[in-house]
Amino acid sequence: MKRVAILISGGGSNMVALANSMIGDHPARPVVVISNDPKAGGLAKARNLGIATAIVDHREYPNDRNAFEGVLHATLEGYKPDIVCLAGFMRILTEGFTARYEGRMLNIHPSLLPKYKGLHTHARALEAGDAEHGCSVHEVTAALDDGPVLGQARIAIEDGDTPDTLASRLLSLEHQLYPAVLRRFAIGDRAPVYLPISEPIP
Ligand code: GRF
Repeated sequence: MKRVAILISGGGSNMVALANSMIGDHPARPVVVISNDPKAGGLAKARNLGIATAIVDHREYPNDRNAFEGVLHATLEGYKPDIVCLAGFMRILTEGFTARYEGRMLNIHPSLLPKYKGLHTHARALEAGDAEHGCSVHEVTAALDDGPVLGQARIAIEDGDTPDTLASRLLSLEHQLYPAVLRRFAIGDRAPVYLPISEPIP
């Protein structure tokens, strides 16, 4: 059974979707939810799901990213994760940290990578006049939002869409995509997942 740590910074809706998917014959289980923000709403959701939680507040290490990452790593290792899922985690991780989880750390990013790495992805897709938008699950490597893509979900951009309407329509697809990718990733299957797909998601 693979042990999954989930890192959050906010509401944790992707964390909830991942946690709720890891049941029955799923090859993985959540072992901890860690937030860099003590006020993250996702912490209470994790506790309600019976998942251990921890806080590593980046504000306690001002201008010392290495110190923050050192505590984050030590906290993570206390739970012996096989896989780390970044889910709405808003801190940029250095190469020193990502190298420790090479090949076993995932992230969900709200764009059709390689387009729109970084922030404000919905506004950028709208400004570009794109016909469609989407989200991507990728392996985390040293470069931001740059690792191998393991899954993507697409939505059409509709007239009148705003960054907020796009974000909320996309979020429900994120909640399908991330669990679908994690289930395959946990058994070593790196074949990309594209939504919508014909067969039902296991
Ligand atoms: C989502 O848009 C996700 O794509 C991005 O963070 C946002 C919030 O996610 N990574 P969550 O509700 O905290 O999971």
